[in-house]
Amino acid sequence: MSLTSARLTLRVPEECDIDWITAELQDPEIQRNTTVPSPYARRDAEQFVASTRERGDNTTFVVTITATGGPAGVISLHQRPKHAPSIGYWIGKSVRGQGIATEAVIRICRWGFEDLDLPIITWMARVGNDASRAVALKAGFQMEGILRLRVTSQGRLRDCWPDRSSLKSSPRTPGRGPLHAQGRAGMLPPPHATDLTDEEHDA
Ligand SMILES: CC(C)(COP(=O)(O)OP(=O)(O)OC[C@H]1O[C@@H](n2cnc3c(N)ncnc32)[C@H](O)[C@@H]1OP(=O)(O)O)[C@@H](O)C(=O)NCCC(=O)NCCS
Repeated sequence: MSLTSARLTLRVPEECDIDWITAELQDPEIQRNTTVPSPYARRDAEQFVASTRERGDNTTFVVTITATGGPAGVISLHQRPKHAPSIGYWIGKSVRGQGIATEAVIRICRWGFEDLDLPIITWMARVGNDASRAVALKAGFQMEGILRLRVTSQGRLRDCWPDRSSLKSSPRTPGRGPLHAQGRAGMLPPPHATDLTDEEHDA
């Protein structure tokens, strides 16, 4: 199972990924802004690769540069029971700022909507993670507000920005460019308090 875009190939993680993932995840920025274990050890990468293979759900991908085959990062489209589908991602420090995360997010969202028929895809980031927010906004997500103390990273609960993509309310044609270039932003419901679930009001 793999997904391709203009420059990228998204493929399932393999044992050959353990060493470079371990090295990249020493980056304090990734440990601070994601839910990966901190500190991060080689056994964590082994467990990550084994668990994605065992689950066999093929929703976690290594992002590679197609031209070189070189790995750039990891992206997931999480589908958990009783939760809206959500994306998470990180890109290695040496290849940031080239639009790789944005391209990968657009591709995985298109796959989610068009092939998995998901009604919505959500995104959440620690408040202050401007780079991740820039990626989500460029990919067509819409800000909904701030969730107080919603996600744990490095042992502490953090405030989070949630964005969400459009509801699956219009046909999208594969290969027609980024999601936000297809008029989806205009179809997003306006963010207001009644959009929140009871659980979010209680938070
Ligand atoms: C967030 C992350 C995945 C972005 O990867 P990337 O491949 O560099 O992203 P892109 O190149 O597609 O886009 C980055 C955008 O963020 C912007 N950006 C980068 N740092 C920024 C900052 N500190 N403040 C504001 N915008 C910033 C860039 O300018 C770019 O936008 P532009 O194209 O309009 O100029 C990467 O920085 C990362 O892995 N960070 C650590 C892990 C993480 O935060 N994961 C997301 C958890 S929600």
